[in-house]
Amino acid sequence: MASILMVAGEGLPFIKTGGLADVIGSVPTALTEQGHEVRVVMPLYKKVADKYLDSFSFEKEFTVSVYYNEVPVRIYSKDENGVKFYFIQHQGYFERDTLYGYDDDGVRFGYFQKAVLEMLNQLDYWPQVIHCHDWHTGMIPCMVKECHTDDPRYADIKTVFTIHNIAFQGNFSADILVPALGVPYYLFENGSVRFDTGISFMKSAFVYADKITTVSPSYAQEILTPQYGEHMEAVLNMRKYDLWGIVNGIDTVLWDPKTDPELPYHFDLINVKEEKTNCKLALQKELGLDQRADVLLVGCVSRLTWQKGFYLMMEQLNAICAMPIQLAILGSGEKEIENKFTDLANGNKGKIAFYRGYNESLAHRIYAGSDLFLMPSLFEPCGISQLCSMRYGTLPLVRETGGLKDTVAPYNEYEKTGTGFSFAKYDSTDLVNKLNDAIKVYYNKPDDWAMLRTNAMTYDVSWQSSAREYTKLYKELID
Ligand code: ADP
Ligand code: GLC
Repeated sequence: MASILMVAGEGLPFIKTGGLADVIGSVPTALTEQGHEVRVVMPLYKKVADKYLDSFSFEKEFTVSVYYNEVPVRIYSKDENGVKFYFIQHQGYFERDTLYGYDDDGVRFGYFQKAVLEMLNQLDYWPQVIHCHDWHTGMIPCMVKECHTDDPRYADIKTVFTIHNIAFQGNFSADILVPALGVPYYLFENGSVRFDTGISFMKSAFVYADKITTVSPSYAQEILTPQYGEHMEAVLNMRKYDLWGIVNGIDTVLWDPKTDPELPYHFDLINVKEEKTNCKLALQKELGLDQRADVLLVGCVSRLTWQKGFYLMMEQLNAICAMPIQLAILGSGEKEIENKFTDLANGNKGKIAFYRGYNESLAHRIYAGSDLFLMPSLFEPCGISQLCSMRYGTLPLVRETGGLKDTVAPYNEYEKTGTGFSFAKYDSTDLVNKLNDAIKVYYNKPDDWAMLRTNAMTYDVSWQSSAREYTKLYKELID
């Protein structure tokens, strides 16, 4: 069994902007249950400090060099469900309103990664594997191999890099490489960390990590192609034998319709029909929709961005508005999409509701109260939302891409199988056709709908089998 340090930009229960936080909040526990010793490290953001700092233990203070200054690092820790979480405090870099998207992100996360590696020395804690997640941690494999060459304790560490979204790469000017990151300039010159004219945290991880994973087998194939590779496909193809696709699970204790404290009514397979309807009526009331048990309620909980396929919906708003459905949308993101949904909801009161923003609690009630969950993504590395909706008996309607293809089995009316509905081509007519198919099943074939709902609710969304895959991966590295 392995000792593993997970490094990530966010993680539940402390802070979340997307599915990465769900993963960091749940996979360590699943791995711990399989006998591994797992710890996690992330930055101490303002929201985390405000809410939790009083309950954290102070571990250590030291410095790392950034732009030739010795910059202080304070490490705090907290045990959570048998997993030790470390937090790296720097008020200037991290105690800001949001997590990412600042001009100095390269320097902020460069500092973070240097601090993580120095933390090992300061705490005399030497994991066998450092498991890095997404671009915020992409320089670590390079730093382990190139910046600590005089210390054999670093040389023994194996690194894994998981791609949660290849569209976000951490590409910056090469000017930060030496003074901020402490990485020698010849690694830019020889191409190891270079991407185009600058440096790339993610590309560096593809060069240096001992193993690369992504969050579904289909996405692992897709990112080797120009259509999905976001210009990284050539580099990734060189590492394709070290690239694994391991599908995400969810925290089945947090996401349990039988016990979820955010729900007004609770259900399992036995009472799903009645109690899910009660959840639906309550949700309709909460969102100002007409309270009708008989109407098909379509839910959507998402970052409102091009990735998620909203432009397909935009092209078909008239057709969608004319359908015998209600829509409950929760999300925030691109202004154009937010404004469209605001207008749509204002023009269709009682039928369409839009909650602009991030609301964890409401998300649970939408998963529980809806009949169908819409996720027509342009690309989807894995997707957590469709897993939550299936667990809550809400049938996902998805585009067959990445993890959506791997986790949602399309309805087959002859064999009476499936856990949802799917369409293949990124085409708004196909989306509308598939919605119409789902509408027909809902209104005309209630037995088939009930069969799909049972299949969805019994589909294994837990981490168990994927944690076994990670165990195999770690074993290959350390044996
Ligand atoms: P991504 O990470 O690409 O945004 P995922 O499907 O992997 O997509 O994960 C999204 C996670 O964030 C899910 O847990 C979903 O419920 C949650 N989420 C997304 N938008 C919101 C929102 N506006 N309010 C609450 N939760 C949200
Ligand atoms: C990213 C992807 C999403 C995935 C999540 C967790 O945000 O967009 O598909 O589920 O990471 O791996």
